[in-house]
Amino acid sequence: MVPSTTKLLLTDMVLGVDHVPSNYVRPPSERPNFKDVQASDVSIPLIDLQDLQGPGRPDVVKQIGQACQHSGFFQIQNHGVSETMISNILRLARDFFQLPESERLKNYSDNPSNPVRLSTSFNVKTEKVANWRDFLRLHCYPLEDYVHQWPSNPPSFREDVAEYCTSIRALVLRLLETISESLGLEKNYVSGVLGKHGQHMAMNYYPPCPQPELTYGLPGHTDCSLITVLLQDDVPGLQVLRNGKWVSVNPIPNSFIVNIGDHMQVISNDRYKSVLHRAVVNCNKDRISIPTFYCPSPDAVIGPSPELVDDDHPAVYRNFTCEEYYTQFWNRGLATESCLDTFKASTT
Ligand code: OGA
Ligand code: NI
Repeated sequence: MVPSTTKLLLTDMVLGVDHVPSNYVRPPSERPNFKDVQASDVSIPLIDLQDLQGPGRPDVVKQIGQACQHSGFFQIQNHGVSETMISNILRLARDFFQLPESERLKNYSDNPSNPVRLSTSFNVKTEKVANWRDFLRLHCYPLEDYVHQWPSNPPSFREDVAEYCTSIRALVLRLLETISESLGLEKNYVSGVLGKHGQHMAMNYYPPCPQPELTYGLPGHTDCSLITVLLQDDVPGLQVLRNGKWVSVNPIPNSFIVNIGDHMQVISNDRYKSVLHRAVVNCNKDRISIPTFYCPSPDAVIGPSPELVDDDHPAVYRNFTCEEYYTQFWNRGLATESCLDTFKASTT
């Protein structure tokens, strides 16, 4: 069957399609190569946050510090977000992507600076090869600035998503204290350099794909965030680059995956690395993931923490505003080279 190229969203284009249209096909050297992917093992640590408030805190701080340093990714359990809230938000995302096309399209935009937008792939305006993904991206902090712009269908959308955002923000603030401590910084250091703070989330929808070996849900990238807290449903798809090999991170129910983003790499002066990761798709099942990107506000000036700069560790980056960074991030397409290269300190 000939795919309908007139559709704005992948969800509507894939109906009845039995092969991947040519604009989604990667050149052979850039394909996922499933044979070479390792199953997830201890390389993505699972950290229990239960003891964070008690005498066990130093040990949890140490585990998080090691995970940030060695893998840039970790999973968390006993994080304080209820199972009901988790199943609810996954259900809601699924319901959203199952709405009739005309209802979904009310939220469509191809402008990355729009605070509420349903779109497809990564940046349809700049990229050459498309990705097997639709997504709804929302700005979420401060809530009262954005909530009235969010979709109003399904009817509970605004209320449920607002509750979820508030819970995740509380979790992020606890994680940021822990991460500050793990760097030897005062516990409010990181949250203190983020200006007014920013929080964005995405609901990613990856439809089943007839030829998953030819394309990506999302190709390798690092996140334009301080940290990202990802919720995924029970369908595998996330892969993380570890010692030069792609490792798949299989879902653990009711846990979140946390990763270091580019801004934390800068603040930590490269002690913590924003690691490449990607999402692959499969023939049988659609997949939902819900990342929360916690960020500085656009006016915040980010640079290496002075306490982490000395003669042995010169500043790797110059100071820059997040506004500058976001412009760069969205305009370059989702390139594998780190967007951070542009912000390196000059080495004269
Ligand atoms: C992202 C991302 C991974 C996934 O949205 O930045 O990396 O598993 N998502 O969907
Ligand atoms: Ni990502």
